[in-house]
Amino acid sequence: MVLNQVSDLIGKTPILGLSVPARQTRLLLKIEKNNPGGSIKDRMARNMVVAALKSGKLERGGVIVESSSGNTGIGLALAAVEFGLRFIAVVDHHAAPDKIAVMRALGADIRYVEGDYREDEVAVVERQRMAAEIAHQIPGAVFMNQSDNVANAGGYADFVREAIAQVGHIDAYVGCVGTGGSMTGIAHGLKLHNADTITIAVEPDGSIVFGQPGHPYYQSGTGTPAGDTVGLVLDYSCIDLGQQVSDSQAFETARYIARKTGLLVGGSTGGVIYKALESIHSGIIGGNVLATVADGGEKYLHTVFNEAWLNDRNLLDPLVWSQLDEWLDEACSSEAPRELPRLHVA
Ligand SMILES: Cc1ncc(COP(=O)(O)O)c(C=O)c1O
Repeated sequence: MVLNQVSDLIGKTPILGLSVPARQTRLLLKIEKNNPGGSIKDRMARNMVVAALKSGKLERGGVIVESSSGNTGIGLALAAVEFGLRFIAVVDHHAAPDKIAVMRALGADIRYVEGDYREDEVAVVERQRMAAEIAHQIPGAVFMNQSDNVANAGGYADFVREAIAQVGHIDAYVGCVGTGGSMTGIAHGLKLHNADTITIAVEPDGSIVFGQPGHPYYQSGTGTPAGDTVGLVLDYSCIDLGQQVSDSQAFETARYIARKTGLLVGGSTGGVIYKALESIHSGIIGGNVLATVADGGEKYLHTVFNEAWLNDRNLLDPLVWSQLDEWLDEACSSEAPRELPRLHVA
């Protein structure tokens, strides 16, 4: 089949199953990094633009403005090309430089927030304030405001339809939570189909979505940092369990999955896989467990997949590898010494 536009490449993503033999469970990874912008956010970004156009708030040739750590921005940059819009992306130093370069390549106008922020501090509050102000100043410009935009969660209806068609019965879903749009849209959709589906939302340790104390973290694009407010789009009623994952657990899991399976996943997905396996191992979930590969490791080659970067920030933790080996039954299947990557731990 020959497709006619890049947006036709959004969705219909494949699922890769990892078996967890001891628990007779399959961890089913929906490979959302296969979307044209490289992340799950292509779905909601296009949906927000279509909704704004349909409502008349936005006109073709108009301007959209958004604060984004990268992936939503890339999705919006794609939608802007498709609908002939100008896109102004407000970013901070926390976003992976490669994500910003992609937005720029797609024609986005990049604006950085000003101010002194620590490397591990997300300037999300200032980013949103600045995006709203820019939209206010330009006639006809629309601030997408993904955190409070219902079309964010509404952008995952196809994801749910696809997953049910691919898997059939889904016993549990594990996903990350940033704005909460993907979690809300997917969890609602899955529960509508099967009310017994257990949903687990994973946030970084240091994020405040589930009421824990806030502190800086390195996981990019996910969680709500201290000082920010949880988005209106997040519907807690569709989440059965909220869990926190440390940067080390998330990043080491991403590195482990790359070495063991050949699949490059981003840091937030590393966290989701770690918590999914932990929950499977402790018996909270089992059967067909769906999880999302929100984006790919290709976007984090200078951070998550750079040992020197991890070492400088004390993020290496070989114990995560032995834990994952145990959960995936690797220890039993390989009697030869396990092949761990060479780690330069201080
Ligand atoms: C890599 C990554 N993981 C997780 C999320 C969180 O998704 P959501 O905003 O739907 O909660 C995002 C959002 O941008 C992301 O880019």
